[in-house]
Amino acid sequence: ISRNFSTSSLARAAIKNVTVVGGGLMGSGIAQVSAQSGHNVTIVELNQEVLDKTHKSIQQSLQRVAKKVYKEKPQEGENFVSETLSRISTSTNLADVVQNSDLVLEAIVENLSIKHKLFKSIDDIAPEKTIFASNTSSLSISEIASVCKRKDKFAGLHFFNPVPVMKLLEVVRTPETSDETYEKLMAWGKAIGKTAITCKDTPGFVVNRLLVPLMAEAIRMLERGDASPKDIDIAMKLGAGHPMGPIELADYVGHDTTNSILNGWHEKFPENPLFNPLPSLQKLVDEKKLGVKTGEGYYCYKK
Ligand code: NAI
Repeated sequence: ISRNFSTSSLARAAIKNVTVVGGGLMGSGIAQVSAQSGHNVTIVELNQEVLDKTHKSIQQSLQRVAKKVYKEKPQEGENFVSETLSRISTSTNLADVVQNSDLVLEAIVENLSIKHKLFKSIDDIAPEKTIFASNTSSLSISEIASVCKRKDKFAGLHFFNPVPVMKLLEVVRTPETSDETYEKLMAWGKAIGKTAITCKDTPGFVVNRLLVPLMAEAIRMLERGDASPKDIDIAMKLGAGHPMGPIELADYVGHDTTNSILNGWHEKFPENPLFNPLPSLQKLVDEKKLGVKTGEGYYCYKK
């Protein structure tokens, strides 16, 4: 009986209305997967122009899904796209939108003071039950939450790019995140079709804490002249079974991103040699050779 009670009370309290703040690369993917799984989603952006772009990119992404999943049934595919889109609305007024929100998920620029400003502006006006979460890759969740009173209803929800494709969700608990908040977020992660893992609020959480030092160590090998980029990549693919080598991966992630994560960690934890800055990486960033997205990084992608 008690089990039934707790299940039904959890179901009643389940996250249904989601506000995604920031409709860029990550926010649009998060909005898409939430709407696809039946949640009502509102995307909040700085202006209408960006919102139009976000809406269009979600529509195109859904059409790609429909083409694959409803190959033989184009009408059902069309219905899937329009039904999913009907669950997504857009706004430029966050204060308004949070009134009806079970979860506010922030995916704006990676800048602590801008994130502080955002959460501070809604902490006093959002309903008491509303959970706040950040999709930050490299900032501390506790530090972001420090400006809010609802520290028990604050956690990290870290998605991976491209969100509709990547199955993992890292649910990050601070020492103050309550069990109820944590359980609701784990249930929501499952409801949107992700496999959720839990971790503490430590730099890089699980995936990036392992991947960034791996890429950095591979780049240090290059800098010492121990092996060529190609040989390092072949080695890790054939010798460790990785689908991509660490240098290829760094080019794919983008050197601006990796460099700023690494430098941020180095500043905070100067004693950790794994986080030491990389001269060749800094040089690529200065030359705007950011990897695949600019056509050149450690490899050249120009035809
Ligand atoms: P992005 O630059 O594509 O999108 C950010 C969006 O936020 C922009 O459209 C911008 O107009 C909007 N924005 C900025 N300030 C705003 C505000 N005050 N209110 C509403 N909208 C605002 O960035 P991206 O890549 O989507 O990253 C967003 C967050 O997700 C960052 O915290 C990043 O660390 C994190 N993240 C990024 C991943 C990636 O692979 N790019 C992976 C996992 C997390």
